[in-house]
Amino acid sequence: MNNLDGKVALISGAARGIGAETARLMVEAGARVIIGDILDERGRETARAIGGSSAAVIFHHLDVTNEEDWSAAIGAAMTRCGGLDILVNNAGMFLGKGIEEASLDEWHRLCAVNLTGVFLGTKLAVPSLRERGRASPHGSAIINLASVAGLVGSQLDPLYSMTKGGVTLFTKSAALEFARKGYRIRVNSIHPGVIQTDMGQQTFVSRARNIGTNDVDEARQIALLTHPIGRLGTPTDIAKGIVFLASDDAAFMTGSGLVIDGGLTAQ
Ligand code: NAI
Repeated sequence: MNNLDGKVALISGAARGIGAETARLMVEAGARVIIGDILDERGRETARAIGGSSAAVIFHHLDVTNEEDWSAAIGAAMTRCGGLDILVNNAGMFLGKGIEEASLDEWHRLCAVNLTGVFLGTKLAVPSLRERGRASPHGSAIINLASVAGLVGSQLDPLYSMTKGGVTLFTKSAALEFARKGYRIRVNSIHPGVIQTDMGQQTFVSRARNIGTNDVDEARQIALLTHPIGRLGTPTDIAKGIVFLASDDAAFMTGSGLVIDGGLTAQ
């Protein structure tokens, strides 16, 4: 199940959090992984921690808002690993401000990372993914990290929600465009609930500010109550879904959104 033997994956924002855990599980499933991130030291540490002295994991500096960085990271996949089968557009940022509080500069930064990053990664990886897709029985795969906030509105962070809603529909549109063109590239999105990472922690801090107490533990408790399953998510919960979508077990899935949210959006 979920075998990635011989596959090569590029994961943006994989120095920590969901991306790092995805890198770990992908290596376990047999893939070679390129970790791309702006956090160079943390990214190298993560690569060392997962791959040890093996060549299974490589760190490559990648700012997803920068076209040259994408070309270089994809180039590294081609020259050092012989191709690219899987792209995970995971890098993302959270703002945690209301419409009246957010500045235009903050909006532009959010769009650059959460939207431009996904567009550039997809655009620049397509030639490599297409080439490897031809030789693979079920094609290549792109997995985009959207959010539950890309499915339903977020009173906590409406601008983040706007960007993730964009990722949700870009995923479906890209799947349709590549299918129409006959490219063998499946494109799917993942919609996590609140996950215990640095970003998850930022959501508690901003919720605490919004409720006016600045009590982060209380905000965490309130977030927990929105998850009927009775706990918050872990990076592993999400990484397992990403590995599944990347694998041939998801061969008949394209343009889909996999919701992993402990029942949050079932209500
Ligand atoms: P995180 O904040 O722990 O990790 C995000 C990573 O992205 C960091 O390593 C960061 O350095 C990197 N990054 C930020 N800007 C970048 C840029 N310009 N270029 C390259 N890398 C950059 O976040 P987490 O929780 O691991 O989130 C991963 C994805 O999952 C994000 O797209 C996020 O929006 C999404 N998500 C997370 C949820 C959560 O509760 N943690 C919930 C729903 C979606």
